[in-house]
Amino acid sequence: MTDAITPAQQASIAAAAMRLRAGGLVGMPTETVYGLAASVWDPAAVLRIFHVKGRPLFDPLIVHVADAEQAWTVAQPNALARHLAQQCWPGPLTLVLPRQAAVPDLVTAGLDSVAVRCPDHLLALALIRAAGLPLAAPSANRFACLSPTRAADVVEQLGAAVDLVLDGGPCRVGVESTVLSLCGERPLILRPGGLTRERLEALLDSPVGLAARTILDEGSPPAPGMLASHYAPRCPLRLRRGDEAWPKGGDLGLLAFTGADLPPAASVASQEILSWAGDPAQAAMELFAALRRLDRPPVRRIVAELLPEQGLGLAINDRLRRAAGLG
Ligand code: TXA
Ligand code: MG
Repeated sequence: MTDAITPAQQASIAAAAMRLRAGGLVGMPTETVYGLAASVWDPAAVLRIFHVKGRPLFDPLIVHVADAEQAWTVAQPNALARHLAQQCWPGPLTLVLPRQAAVPDLVTAGLDSVAVRCPDHLLALALIRAAGLPLAAPSANRFACLSPTRAADVVEQLGAAVDLVLDGGPCRVGVESTVLSLCGERPLILRPGGLTRERLEALLDSPVGLAARTILDEGSPPAPGMLASHYAPRCPLRLRRGDEAWPKGGDLGLLAFTGADLPPAASVASQEILSWAGDPAQAAMELFAALRRLDRPPVRRIVAELLPEQGLGLAINDRLRRAAGLG
């Protein structure tokens, strides 16, 4: 992605904006992962998002805006929200705030709150502006499957169900945004993501809590954002224990952080190294694409290694634990 929009991209944005205004669904690049976007004001289009993804109606969507001013048309800000929006937007931070009454219930799953973020991607911002609408957009994958970090991933998973996919190149951050609730007494991270807890704590000058993961009970809506077994590959995935040597086997796919102690490649079906240099930002960027590459024959089982539990490691480990079914 360059820092200017080409005439061809401009034309695609205009076409996509028209589709959105007419109730269509558009695959939209963001800095985190690709989103599946619809007009926030169009409940029929929003309902299609749920159908296309196979997503339960009790799991609310994030509303994407071009700036803070537009955010406050869907959410009611407080001083903290204004501060964080000013410091972190555009960027991978989603704020959960009391909603404005006009937001359709479908978007918020009937909650009194709404999740809102301003994505740090030129094409996404240009699309929101061209449509003149806030866009409700979950990640553009089928429910509980791996999130898409390239346009081709969206086409592969949702293809015909989407009116148009804007290709903005590979996503720079690679894990979803940090979801921060500002509805309680203290700010609370509901989902660790692309903006680190350490950065939030520095901005807020206080410790920030991390919501406990809760397991999805049959039929009862969990705390939003807390669904277990999310982001799962098709093959079973388990985590490598801290003291465990890498296993060997012709049906194994290994997902390593730096690859420092990997066995010879010939002893497994496939292996992926997220960052030779041990850079968590690079690991985040590669995570979903690496899992996708591993998740095909002859690999039948995946073993993945956790990162140090800090910075972006928190978000990556959260996705790996969910992929392992540990919620
Ligand atoms: O980076 C991202 O956040 C990507 C890109 C496309 O922007 N979007 C994304 O959307 O990950 P989705 O739908 O896959 O995840 C949205 C998360 C869910 O965990 C949902 O439960 C939570 O945000 N959420 C949405 N509205 C909420 C609310 N009112 N209260 C609590 N959690 C909410
Ligand atoms: Mg998602």
